[in-house]
Amino acid sequence: MQRSLVFPFFVALLVFSTTAQSGGIYGRVVSESESPIVGAMVTVRFGSPFQERTVFSGEEGRYAVSGIPDESDFLVRVRRIGWQDIRSPHSPMGEDASATDFTMTRLTDPALVAAQLPANHWYGLVLEQLDSEHEREQLVRQCTFCHQQGNAATRLQRSPEEWQKVLSLMARMGGGLDQEFGAKIPEIFNKAYDPATAVAKLTKGFEKPGFAPPPSAEVRKAVIDEYQLGGRSSMQHDMIMHPNGYAYSVDMTTDSLFRLDPSVPGGAREIYPIPNGSNPLGGALASGALPSNTDMRVGPHSLQVGPDGDVWITLAVGNQLARFDIDEKSFTTEDLPGGIYPHTLRIDDRGRIWYTIAVSNHVGMYDPESGQHEVIRVPARSFGEEVTLRLIPVLLWLSQHVDFEPSGGAGEGASLPIPYGIDFAPDGGVWFSQLNAHRIGRIDPETFEIEMIDTPFTAPRRMRFDSKGMLWIPGFSSNLISKFDPQTREFEHIELPIEPLGTETPYALNVDLVTDDVWICGTNSDSLIRYQQAEKKFTVFPLPTQVTYTRDIDFGADGSVWTSNSNVPAWQIETGVPRIIRLHVDGNVDMPMVSSNP
Ligand code: HEC
Repeated sequence: MQRSLVFPFFVALLVFSTTAQSGGIYGRVVSESESPIVGAMVTVRFGSPFQERTVFSGEEGRYAVSGIPDESDFLVRVRRIGWQDIRSPHSPMGEDASATDFTMTRLTDPALVAAQLPANHWYGLVLEQLDSEHEREQLVRQCTFCHQQGNAATRLQRSPEEWQKVLSLMARMGGGLDQEFGAKIPEIFNKAYDPATAVAKLTKGFEKPGFAPPPSAEVRKAVIDEYQLGGRSSMQHDMIMHPNGYAYSVDMTTDSLFRLDPSVPGGAREIYPIPNGSNPLGGALASGALPSNTDMRVGPHSLQVGPDGDVWITLAVGNQLARFDIDEKSFTTEDLPGGIYPHTLRIDDRGRIWYTIAVSNHVGMYDPESGQHEVIRVPARSFGEEVTLRLIPVLLWLSQHVDFEPSGGAGEGASLPIPYGIDFAPDGGVWFSQLNAHRIGRIDPETFEIEMIDTPFTAPRRMRFDSKGMLWIPGFSSNLISKFDPQTREFEHIELPIEPLGTETPYALNVDLVTDDVWICGTNSDSLIRYQQAEKKFTVFPLPTQVTYTRDIDFGADGSVWTSNSNVPAWQIETGVPRIIRLHVDGNVDMPMVSSNP
């Protein structure tokens, strides 16, 4: 009876709130005994390449998804931890939204429940085996920067020989471990991931309501859109929102720039191949250091919008900067005068491009107006390190031209200091992090003088200033964010609240300069995390796709939060392809109106 009162009003709202060319679907998510299921993720997938739109079911289990193009077939997936996924195909339904209820079945097999948990729950079982902080830190920093640990592809038991093969492949790609520690890995992983013990630990009390509780009413207002970009051999490394409303994303392993127009239902995509000349596979890096299915010759890595709207890109293995003219849709490139592996770039208010140069331990600056280049050497930690850094070009040349692996293929990545994130203080100072050296640094924007500061936590990664001049830094292997005051030089740590505590690996953060909210990548837990400074409050937004590995965050003009899923290899991602993701914190406006105005 109540339903018939509610729905006509609800449909009116839904149709009102969607465009003329798009329909929707709404209804309730309930259990077999008809009780409402709150906090289920209802995902509608349509189009090819696809868009997925996800909402959360609210009070009384109600959900509503709008904005589905009229003519498209679509697939609905309903998901909540502890319940069996529903996948249900639908035919085009025309302009009117159509009422559909979903009945979920509780899972009784704990192995199936454990398989629904984000990777960090499984990874926690590995981390708790490690008794030395040094080993824990090294494992997190070296094994979690390309793909999640603990996802379905990585949490398998393997014979020691198989592990040895996996580990030497990872070391060739940069994920090396100390020899002694590496030797212990097969036993540690096999013990942690033994289904006989792992499943019981992860699913303790799963029949009870307290297990994996639904997200709060605040989180349930979110709408999450995911747009497929690229294919199984892609890596959508970073993405940005352009003031023109398009999203741009760089596909590192296929040397492409993507443009997405999110105003078109399903998203309109364009792909621009980046000129890679006669570069060999792998560019400046040895081709043995690549995943087997890549075709990377310049390796576009990071991108930003210049003052005239052009898009600037670091070409990591091409050792170049690229400039993309968004009107002509053409590229020009600028060779680096020195250094290896241009990494993250930011553009200062004079239009100068500043970028970290990861492998050779430099920071670069290029002024497109004057043509001035600076390549600033970052101090090494020791004389030995300085010598190694200066030998790198020779070692790379050898590895490309004769059968030679630097340091036997192990440990190399663990020892290089790696300049990483970069941003500008309000006084124009250029601040950057040095990931493996656990330091941050400041470069004077006029004199290029450099100063280094040790961080009292490990692995500072992609950092950003807020509107008040505080520097926010994620500690990739220390499960925290830190607020650094450049005036007092004090750090304040805030531990990330992801459960089980200590299992998160925040790759990047960004500050929404309108609200000063800090948004953090929940890189190993399929989530985006908001930290509201005034309230000192964290809010965790779960993301719908298993294996959502996020690297950089940007904001739309409407306050939406954008990121990309760039787990590499892409085939470990549920559905096997990368996406870029938009989180609309208050997107689900239909829901509260319905439940509060029956
Ligand atoms: C530089 C990127 C990178 C790093 C760092 C990295 N991996 Fe990987 N990992 C990959 C890629 C790419 C694959 C897929 C390889 C393939 O099958 O082509 C993979 C696959 C795996 C797999 C699945 C192998 C299989 O048989 O399917 C495991 C397990 C794994 N990695 C563990 C680790 C561990 C442990 C570390 C740290 C020592 C690590 N990874 C560090 C890129 C990386």
